[in-house]
Amino acid sequence: MPPLTYANYLDLEKLLTLQRPRSSPAEHDEMLFIVIHQTYELWFKQLLHEFEKVKRDFSAGDLFGAIHSFKRTRTIMKTLVGQIDILETMTPSSFSSFRDRLDTASGFQSVQFRELEFLLGYKRSSALAHVKPEFPGADRLQRRITERTVIDHFYDFLATRGATIPEELKNRDVTQPNGPDERVQQEILRLYKSSPDVSILFELMTDFDEGLQEWRYRHIKLVERTIGAKYGTGGSPGVPFLKESLFKPIFHDLWAVRHEM
Ligand code: HEM
Repeated sequence: MPPLTYANYLDLEKLLTLQRPRSSPAEHDEMLFIVIHQTYELWFKQLLHEFEKVKRDFSAGDLFGAIHSFKRTRTIMKTLVGQIDILETMTPSSFSSFRDRLDTASGFQSVQFRELEFLLGYKRSSALAHVKPEFPGADRLQRRITERTVIDHFYDFLATRGATIPEELKNRDVTQPNGPDERVQQEILRLYKSSPDVSILFELMTDFDEGLQEWRYRHIKLVERTIGAKYGTGGSPGVPFLKESLFKPIFHDLWAVRHEM
């Protein structure tokens, strides 16, 4: 057995052959476009890994475990937002020079991004239309639809802190998105006032949520400055379509109580 090295532990030889620009003659910026997207997918993978742990922490009533993970996920989110700056160094004409090579490939088809939305509680069946059954990971996405979300596990956590969670929320149809609930908001408000340690968690969750909305906003601006009013390669009207999910929070109940504090 050869000794473990930096390169073979990380499987670098494989990793570094995975960037394969398609433009010919080669367009300089296509490499950046590929590296950025692959980096995003790796971070999506890490976020999915963290939120699986968060679900377990929540149901076990492990406040500090959840705090620790939310600190990490909101920091990853900041990195995801920051990376857009790098891609914005690519001009519209530079992108146009290889855009045709993308054919109908689009972020629409990112299975992991959808998994993340579904795992968090933002389940939208319309998104499934862009993920064909033969896509790698399509089965994982299907499974996520039938799984309890981070918010469902958050209800478990609130219950461990004495909150009364309505039966209809405990037994809700988990294939549907989580929505706001005034009774949950009252419990959150009570905990904000009575439990400073739990309020740290609530703030970190809000940070993450704000980060995701910030990413959506920055992605739209990136799209707008790079392709303007063009349709997306995935076939959507582009910017107007993306604006539909702008400012939509994941953790509705945490946003809904802020004026009452
Ligand atoms: C030049 C850069 C980019 C352009 C022009 C662009 C353009 C678009 C457009 C037009 C859409 C709407 C769907 C469609 O019709 O194709 C879209 C969706 C999407 N893009 Fe990008 N994008 C860019 C970079 C990125 C990057 C770096 C990521 C990181 C993973 C990303 C992830 C996504 C995701 C996840 C969606 C689906 C969003 C949703 O359904 O809410 N995009 N993109």
